[in-house]
Amino acid sequence: MDMNKRPENMERITTPELAQAFIDEQVAAIKEQVKDGKVLLALSGGVDSSVVAALLIKALGTNVVCVHVNHGFLRKGEPEQVIEVFKNQMNANLVYVDAAERFLGKVAGVTDPEQKRHIIGEEFIKVFDEEAAKLKDIHFLGQGTIYPDILESEQGIKAHHNVGGLPKEMDMELVEPVKLLYKDEVRVVGKQLGLPDNMVYRQPFPGPGLAVRCPGAITRDRLEAVRESDAILREEFAKNGLAGKVWQYFTVVPDFKSTGIRNGARTFEYPVIIRAINTTDAITATVEDVPFSLLCHITDRITKEVAGVNRVLFDLTPKPSATIEYE
Ligand code: XMP
Repeated sequence: MDMNKRPENMERITTPELAQAFIDEQVAAIKEQVKDGKVLLALSGGVDSSVVAALLIKALGTNVVCVHVNHGFLRKGEPEQVIEVFKNQMNANLVYVDAAERFLGKVAGVTDPEQKRHIIGEEFIKVFDEEAAKLKDIHFLGQGTIYPDILESEQGIKAHHNVGGLPKEMDMELVEPVKLLYKDEVRVVGKQLGLPDNMVYRQPFPGPGLAVRCPGAITRDRLEAVRESDAILREEFAKNGLAGKVWQYFTVVPDFKSTGIRNGARTFEYPVIIRAINTTDAITATVEDVPFSLLCHITDRITKEVAGVNRVLFDLTPKPSATIEYE
């Protein structure tokens, strides 16, 4: 039997009952596979790795070592939430690595988008490997592989890049409890495991995070402006019923300044661009028709609350011609 093939008769997990049956079955399977061994897991805080972490912890308790690498490009409140949910509430064995300064140093002055992504990806693997090398007697690696990853890598669309490039000498067996599930099923399982809604229903977020929303060379002031404006946008979308409706929404702070006025004095500051799109497959996308009054309210908040910003723009461009992200 091909273990990477979803059985024809496997029922789609759509209800709490089906999710619970899946959880019970996987907890037993994990215990059977790992026994009293230890599992290492890279926990990003995204839906897939969070659900795998919760399943592993349920089965193995502190024999799961979760490593959360904060590269400094996460959204406001995200690293804190990972610590709160996993360490404080689930009592997980969590290694939290604050590598923000290290990453900022690596990308300082780097303007080319692909080079930036490459540097962040490489550094991420390096930091994770360094942490893994400090741990002893771990023979299993947990991974948040889901079924579309398997299908896409079989079809040659993209390499299955979940494996965090582990040190060669670490010969680890994979534990992939959600590898036959589709994304919507992972969410139903996450909800049943008691994970918070903003983790379970999180919008897609690129691996390099806010770094690709600071086009060009990243600076601390623009990174901070993108993080704060993104938090305001998310708060307002949630308050106004758009959070569950719009597929993806975020802010971007481009690398130019323009003239403005505040309290009768000239300012020369950055703009914030708002992007809100809908799609089913991320291959094409349309722009959400955000109510004008809400856009005006968000503009008012951002220009008042975010340091170094004097202007707010709304991106009207579908994909194509624009991609969803700016880099
Ligand atoms: P683009 O910008 O190519 O984005 O239209 C399509 C979707 O993919 C997300 N995205 C990424 N997701 N790692 C990810 O996991 C990445 O490096 C990455 N880059 C883009 C993007 O947010 C959008 O949903």
